[in-house]
Amino acid sequence: MDAVGDIAGLRAALDGQRHRKIGLVPTMGNLHAGHLELVHECRRACDVCVVSIFVNPTQFGPNEDYGSYPRTLDEDLKLLAAAGTDLVFNPPVDAMYPHGQDCHVTVSVPSLAHTLCGEARPGHFDGVATVVAKLLNIVAPDEAFFGEKDWQQLTLIRTMVRQLDMPFAVTGVPTVREASGLAMSSRNNYLSDEERQRAALLNRVLNGIKTGIERGDHDYETAEARGQQELTAAGFDVDYVAVRDAARLVPPDADTHTLRILAAARLGRARLIDNVGVAL
Ligand code: PAJ
Repeated sequence: MDAVGDIAGLRAALDGQRHRKIGLVPTMGNLHAGHLELVHECRRACDVCVVSIFVNPTQFGPNEDYGSYPRTLDEDLKLLAAAGTDLVFNPPVDAMYPHGQDCHVTVSVPSLAHTLCGEARPGHFDGVATVVAKLLNIVAPDEAFFGEKDWQQLTLIRTMVRQLDMPFAVTGVPTVREASGLAMSSRNNYLSDEERQRAALLNRVLNGIKTGIERGDHDYETAEARGQQELTAAGFDVDYVAVRDAARLVPPDADTHTLRILAAARLGRARLIDNVGVAL
């Protein structure tokens, strides 16, 4: 497994591989079993597996954890080599933003960037869309892999790729969870042992709403409010609990075929997100 940090080097390494199917897994590092599932999926579907590790400054708000985001490159490289990764792309910030971050071209997906997590994190999804567009253009994979854990991010990337006519397939991979149901996340490291146990309530609340809907309860607003109360009573600081159209992330309407129930809440130092799907 090779690791390269410059764009020209990455392209040169892939030059002789273009007759094979190339897969890309974008990450910010501090890898766990959720990320590795994307790598496994990439290896199953593609001949060459490229993983990027880049903590992207433009998707962090001024009061967020860019400075303290866990950076564990040596450990990540060992895990990726063991998982069968062919090539790692880990550029420094100035390789991705050589002219600075403020005057860079921005990719924005207005229909999806300002709702749900976009409300609490202004600018976040423009940063995500921009860096993912760059990574896709740099690697030019046949297929790229993203986790369903970040459902809004996955939906936004699908929309960007479709509307900008980018010739890459986007594949979503189901969320990998701890035994408690807690979705694996690098930010779970911010939780104490006691908070980590309590954090599993987030997934239980979403599954409770899902079960209610499957039993025929379509009063979504009441279900959202009840879920929010349950989390608040357990000490979560809730950003939202929302039942939405899975593809457009708007409140369900006559064109909705699949629902997604999504939530974001702070517990201690961690901002946790999770979501589950419901077919109608
Ligand atoms: P990061 O949080 O490192 O996640 C990288 C990829 O792993 C994302 O597609 C995310 O959805 C997926 N992932 C994380 N936890 C997962 C879990 N428990 N189960 C399944 N997949 C999981 O998301 C980002 O980085 C960045 O925003 C990025 C897309 C790399 C752009 O900077």
